[in-house]
Amino acid sequence: MKGIVLAGGSGTRLHPLTHAVSKQMLPVYNKPMIYYPLSALMLGGIRDILVISSPSHVSMFQDLLGDGSRLGLNIEYAEQPLANGIAEAFLIGAEYIGNDSVALVLGDNIFHGPGFGRLLNKEMSEVDGCVLFGYPVSDPERYGIGEVDEQGNLVSLEEKPVAPRSNLALTGLYLYDNAVVDIAKNIRPSARGELEITDVNQVYLERGQAKLINLGRGFAWLDTGTYDSLLQASQYVQVLEQRQGVRIACLEEIAFRMGFIDAEACYALGSQLQRTDYGKYLMEIAGRD
Ligand code: DAU
Repeated sequence: MKGIVLAGGSGTRLHPLTHAVSKQMLPVYNKPMIYYPLSALMLGGIRDILVISSPSHVSMFQDLLGDGSRLGLNIEYAEQPLANGIAEAFLIGAEYIGNDSVALVLGDNIFHGPGFGRLLNKEMSEVDGCVLFGYPVSDPERYGIGEVDEQGNLVSLEEKPVAPRSNLALTGLYLYDNAVVDIAKNIRPSARGELEITDVNQVYLERGQAKLINLGRGFAWLDTGTYDSLLQASQYVQVLEQRQGVRIACLEEIAFRMGFIDAEACYALGSQLQRTDYGKYLMEIAGRD
């Protein structure tokens, strides 16, 4: 399975923070925002990743992540000239995806919860159609929404409905079989001029091939779309990291635990940052394990 991180858009809702910097590069406590969605792909076992961003921001991500080899990844880059919609990722990435299945994650989505890696591994290894991840929210009108029947089967999808039929938001993590490329080629821009991811998912739903997994209330899916929610995301990470003494979305640690790099490489990455707690943590886990 290939992975795509979509990290474009103009971030206008966070200006002036995002006037000169990509939204997905903003700090969430002690890491750039893109580390969090990238960590989700890695936890699922994905090593081939395409990062898509706007032409003026791609070079920042290249500076940050390079070709990914230090994390045992293969990272490539592509440009999205205009924010024409989330589903455009499959047109930009069509050649990259080739005949593979693909996981798409939005570059501003933060996931954290028990068993997430195991869940992703399982779902990614058997994707047939599409797999969506739902999360109960108090403000469903701000998101794509999924409605499920009593057995938990997905029955309808809506993008930012005025009167939502459920409170189950569709998170920005989507797993697809290879048909997604053709489906994306055949959808038309919505009234707001975007190739909507919900329209892609609707085709799978009509084919009886869309599955929705409810991440549930014990899980954290954090928003970064406003000044307040961005700060709260940082505070969430800070509280858990300090309380538990472990790190959330520490890419070097995940690469090590997933077997993408060995203990020696993890230690070496830590020693390059040894004046920071982040670096000391890497050296410690590499030594301990
Ligand atoms: O976060 C989950 C939600 O993401 C879903 O519930 C919605 O169904 C989905 O449409 C999307 O809603 P948003 O209102 O959050 O979409 P937004 O336009 O803000 O884009 C989300 C991220 O994707 C943002 O970081 C920018 C990036 N993006 C977006 C578009 C439209 C791109 O890189 N390129 C694009 O063309």
